[in-house]
Amino acid sequence: MAIQLSDKPLLEWAGDTLAIALFEDAVELTGELASLDERFAGILKELIAEEEFTGKANSTVFTRVSSNIPVRKIILVGLGKTEAFKIETLRRAAAAVGKVGKKQKSKVIGLSFPLWNNDPTASAQAIAEGVQLALYQDNRFKSDPDDKGSQVETVELLGFAGQEAAINRANQIVSGVILARQLVAAPANSVTPITMAETAQQIAQDYGLQIEILEQEDCEKLGMGAFLGVALASDLPPKFIHLTYKPESTPKRKLAIVGKGLTFDSGGLNIKGAGSGIETMKIDMGGAAATLGAAKAIAQIKPNVEVHFISAVTENMISGKAMHPGDILTASNGKTIEVNNTDAEGRLTLADALVYTDKLGLDAIVDLATLTGANVIALGDDIAGLYTPDDALAGQLEQAASESGEKIWRMPLEEKYFEGLKSGIADMKNTGPRPGGSITAALFLKQFVKDTPWAHLDIAGPVWADKENGYNGPGATGYGVRLLVDWVLSE
Ligand code: BES
Ligand code: MN
Ligand code: ZN
Repeated sequence: MAIQLSDKPLLEWAGDTLAIALFEDAVELTGELASLDERFAGILKELIAEEEFTGKANSTVFTRVSSNIPVRKIILVGLGKTEAFKIETLRRAAAAVGKVGKKQKSKVIGLSFPLWNNDPTASAQAIAEGVQLALYQDNRFKSDPDDKGSQVETVELLGFAGQEAAINRANQIVSGVILARQLVAAPANSVTPITMAETAQQIAQDYGLQIEILEQEDCEKLGMGAFLGVALASDLPPKFIHLTYKPESTPKRKLAIVGKGLTFDSGGLNIKGAGSGIETMKIDMGGAAATLGAAKAIAQIKPNVEVHFISAVTENMISGKAMHPGDILTASNGKTIEVNNTDAEGRLTLADALVYTDKLGLDAIVDLATLTGANVIALGDDIAGLYTPDDALAGQLEQAASESGEKIWRMPLEEKYFEGLKSGIADMKNTGPRPGGSITAALFLKQFVKDTPWAHLDIAGPVWADKENGYNGPGATGYGVRLLVDWVLSE
C-alpha cells in the first residue's frame, strides 16, 4: 500500500472512497463540506442523520454514493471533541478509516483530515502510521488464508502536498513496528535464539550497524551465571545480541535499549500450570522484538544519537540439565541469587544484560520486558508500567508516550519492598511475595545497574491485543517501537 500526497481540493477529488474526519462538536456541514454535500445531492447530511453520526472519536459510518458522482463510497470518521484533539486522535481515526476501507474493498481512499496543532508534518506522519498499522495483516502461517488482507492500494492525503519527509519517516517507523509484530507473533518453533541473532545480523547488514553476538563461551567468560542458568535446559544455544548504531558526527547522547528475550517461557521446573497461558509464552521476547524493531527504524532515520540495542536471548525450558528451584546463581557483577522460582527467569537474563550495558558508560538505559503478570493485574492490557529512580528519564519517557500514543504509567520503586527478596543463604532471592510483584521485579533489576540512569518498562500487557484495538490487534502489537524511537529522537 502506498501513501500519496495531494493538494487537490476536496471538491475536486474523484476516486473510489472518500473519507472525511469530523469533530464531535462540529458535524454540521459548513463551507467546503456544504458544497460537497450539494455536489453529492445531500447524501452527507442524510448519512449523518440516518446513522445518528455524532463525531464520537473513532466512530465510523459509510455509504455508497449514486453512480453519477465520481466517488464510489463515503466514510465519515469521528475525531471526538476539539478540546481533546491529540496527535493520537489522527492516528486512530486514520486506522478506523483503514479498517472500514478494507471491509468495503476500497482500492483508493482519499483522506480529508484536519491538521493537529497546525503541524502538517506531525499530522501527515501520524495519519500514515495509523492507516498502515491498521491494515497490516500477518498471513505468514496460513497456507490459504480466508482473509487475504486489504485491497487498499493507495491512500491519498488531501491537503498534505510536500510532506514526503513525514511519510518517509512514518514508513521507517512502521517497518520497525511490523518487524516487532512479526517476531512476537511467530511461534517458538519459528523464532528461536538462533533466528533472533540472525535477524539482528540482517539489520546490521542492511543498514550498516555494528554487531556483536556473544556465544555461550563468551558469556561464560564474562561470568553471566544468571543468564546462563536460565539457558541450561534449552537444546538451543543462548545468544547475547549487541547491535550498535553510531552516527557519523559526535553523538548528542549515548543510549541503550535492552529487551527481555525469552523466545519461550515454560516456567522451567516451576512449570506454568493449566490456565497460566503457557501456550501464549512465545510473546516473552516482546522486549527484544521492540529492541530490534527500534534498531531497524533508527538505523534508517539516522539521528545524531548513539544507540545500543541489547538482548540476552534464550528459552526457559525443562530437562535434566535445568536449574533446580533453590539453585544459587552468580551474576556477572558477582551478586548471588537464590532462584526460589524458576518462572521468574526474565529478571535473571536481564540482570546480566544490565550489568553488561551499565559498563558501556552511556547516558541512559531503558529496558523493556514482559516481566510480570502482576503488572498486567495493576495496569491492564494497554498500559506499560514505568519503574525508574530517575525523574528526568521518567519525564522523557512520559513525553514520548504521549506523542507516540503508547501508554505508560509510572509505578513506585518502593525500596522497602526489597525486604521481600532477602535470602537467608544468598545475596537475594529472585522472587518476592505476590503483592507488589511487579515492583519487587523492578527492584531486583535495579541491583544490576550501578552507574547509568535507568528505567524499566514492564510491557507484559501491551505486547499483545486479544481483540482489535485501534491500529493494534488482534495479535502482536509491536508495542514499544514507536515509544522508543520517539524517546531517542527527543532532546
Ligand atoms: N513471562 C512471564 C510474565 C508474563 C505473564 C508475561 C503474563 C506476559 C503475560 C514471567 O517470566 C513470569 O513468569 N513471571 C511470573 C513471576 C512470578 C513467578 C514471581 C509471574 O508474573 O507470574
Ligand atoms: Mn516466567
Ligand atoms: Zn518470562
